[in-house]
Amino acid sequence: MILITTPTGDIGSQVLSTLLDSAPSHGEELRVIVRDPAKLPDSIRERVDVVIGSHGDAEVVDSAFAGADAVFWLVPPDPQAPSLEVAYSGFTRAAAQAFTARGVGHVVGVSALGRGTPVADRAGLVTASLAMDDLIASTGVAYRALANPSFMDNVLRQVDSIRDNGVFTDTVAADRKAPVAATRDIAASAAGLLLDRSWTGTGSVPVLGPEDLSANDMARIMSEVLDRPVRYERQSLDDHGATLAGYGMGDAFIQGVIDMKRAKDEGLDDGVPRTPHTASPTTFRQWCEVVLKPAVLA
Ligand SMILES: NC(=O)c1ccc[n+]([C@@H]2O[C@H](COP(=O)([O-])OP(=O)(O)OC[C@H]3O[C@@H](n4cnc5c(N)ncnc54)[C@H](OP(=O)(O)O)[C@@H]3O)[C@@H](O)[C@H]2O)c1
Repeated sequence: MILITTPTGDIGSQVLSTLLDSAPSHGEELRVIVRDPAKLPDSIRERVDVVIGSHGDAEVVDSAFAGADAVFWLVPPDPQAPSLEVAYSGFTRAAAQAFTARGVGHVVGVSALGRGTPVADRAGLVTASLAMDDLIASTGVAYRALANPSFMDNVLRQVDSIRDNGVFTDTVAADRKAPVAATRDIAASAAGLLLDRSWTGTGSVPVLGPEDLSANDMARIMSEVLDRPVRYERQSLDDHGATLAGYGMGDAFIQGVIDMKRAKDEGLDDGVPRTPHTASPTTFRQWCEVVLKPAVLA
């Protein structure tokens, strides 16, 4: 039986739909932890075992992990957390105990690229994700951390600005090339690892996308696919922090984002070479056609 956290989230929902297609032929049952089951479509709710609650809650994970052979683990973003340690490792602590107590064999977690780079220990949200990986690995469960660069899907937060002003912003240098991955590919990697549990020990599985792109490259590809000009505007880290504060995010999370963004400009995502094993298939152009364009036209 495979247990899936965040079945209503971006990656979790795609892991679940992939497993709904493929798990039955592998003889696997599926269970989800969800805070509000009404958010799951009826067609999905009928086909999975549902545990109601938060996967940060000790009682919830203890009962949900009973009988689970494998777990898909994703820590939800918590912009109000008092510290990044609380947000990532703190949220994971009860589950880490339950992996051992319930004898879970394999865990696949959503994490970030950066381990082993000189900036890994001052990269905000990413440093906190890597500490979460260490916590899970310390339980002795077989663990694979999906080591992700920035998601293509982050661009969806800027649909209004792209549509109305032809502007897309970030803090990275305009011509600095870096990996970027589609959440559909991250979900596909997770589903594959959850089904084929021949792996042992701990390690990370990078999901790098098919090519490195700069912000200017992304603006050009968006312009071509959307058939309207889109330009990149670089924001200072201070201005970005002020923007996040305007959305009501707490100080610890904002500092974590700023530290992560600075580290990305200093090589956080440059530590893993792209090979057939670390590349993932979806190009930014395909993602723009399938995901961004319908959102901009909606
Ligand atoms: N964005 C990036 O570029 C990037 C890069 C590398 C790694 N990551 C990591 O990716 C993860 C985010 O993945 P995602 O985009 O798939 O997330 P998401 O779409 O925001 O989904 C998170 C889900 O968590 C649920 N949730 C929220 N608060 C919760 C709580 N307190 N208890 C239980 N469930 C809760 C929400 O569902 P309900 O509201 O329905 O309960 C939501 O569907 C983070 O861990 C982040 O660090 C992100």
